[in-house]
Amino acid sequence: MAYNLLKGKKGIIFGALNEQSIAWKIAEKCYEEGAQIVLTNAPIALRMGEINKLAETCGNAPVIPADVTSNDDLKNLLTKSIEHFGGQVDFILHSVGMSMNMRKNNHYTALNYDFTHKTFDISAMSFHRVLQLAYQMDAISEWGSVVALTYIAAQRVFPDYNEMADAKALLESVARSFGYQYAKKNKVRINTVSQSPTRTTAGSGVKGFEGFISFAEKMSPLGNATAEDCANYCVTLFSDLTKMVTMQNLFHDGGFSFTGVTAEVIEQMEK
Ligand SMILES: NC(=O)c1ccc[n+]([C@@H]2O[C@H](COP(=O)([O-])OP(=O)(O)OC[C@H]3O[C@@H](n4cnc5c(N)ncnc54)[C@H](O)[C@@H]3O)[C@@H](O)[C@H]2O)c1
Repeated sequence: MAYNLLKGKKGIIFGALNEQSIAWKIAEKCYEEGAQIVLTNAPIALRMGEINKLAETCGNAPVIPADVTSNDDLKNLLTKSIEHFGGQVDFILHSVGMSMNMRKNNHYTALNYDFTHKTFDISAMSFHRVLQLAYQMDAISEWGSVVALTYIAAQRVFPDYNEMADAKALLESVARSFGYQYAKKNKVRINTVSQSPTRTTAGSGVKGFEGFISFAEKMSPLGNATAEDCANYCVTLFSDLTKMVTMQNLFHDGGFSFTGVTAEVIEQMEK
């Protein structure tokens, strides 16, 4: 059921790679709630062509390539989006993450720093880059809303999350620091949403992911939040109903983050 929560709003969605992507579900939901959107991803991801299917179902949304590590690409994305919308954007979703160390199975104690540098650039510094360019270009409307997706490994140790944990800690810090600056300038809100483990291309790259996801399921009183649940939550954050929420890391995890232990986990331990 749609509530028209985003009627008249215009947004940019980063990171829809395929139907499993959390950003894919968020794009669909934003469109369903009345928003107009622009889709973007790295040129290499766009070559797979899947995003065109999503663009069609979202009112023939433009697809604009942008590598999040390139200032020129991002400037072009913001310029073209403003042209397309005929004005500023109201919301931005940052749903981007990548670790070559994870892909190559490099342990946290034996990182390749060229890869680590890339991880931080793509997964965290890119958030600052998008915000800084938007700030300088005055690309976001007053009371606009920006959300980035993160994971609880920023606060607690999940050994196989590797250097992505450090990247997420930086990402969440950028949301706070830039949240202050952008609120003062233009009342723009910036938050991170800390999502349950979710079966996606990036998610499945984490070693032992299946064990990990079922542990989280048992440790969450409501169970794991799905990508669709995340999409619903993000819609509320892009809407005018959450105007005074900014600089927060918001857990969207079925209660996992505040649970010490559950009956299911104790039962498992007693087997
Ligand atoms: N899946 C999970 O368990 C989970 C849990 C919490 C948070 N998250 C976060 O959600 C976000 C989305 O991930 P997902 O799980 O939907 O996986 P996904 O693989 O579908 O999305 C990751 C996206 O990042 C894009 N990307 C990578 N390098 C890029 C670059 N240089 N420029 C532009 N885009 C680039 C990829 O093309 C892809 O679309 C990530 O920030 C991830 O860390 C995922």
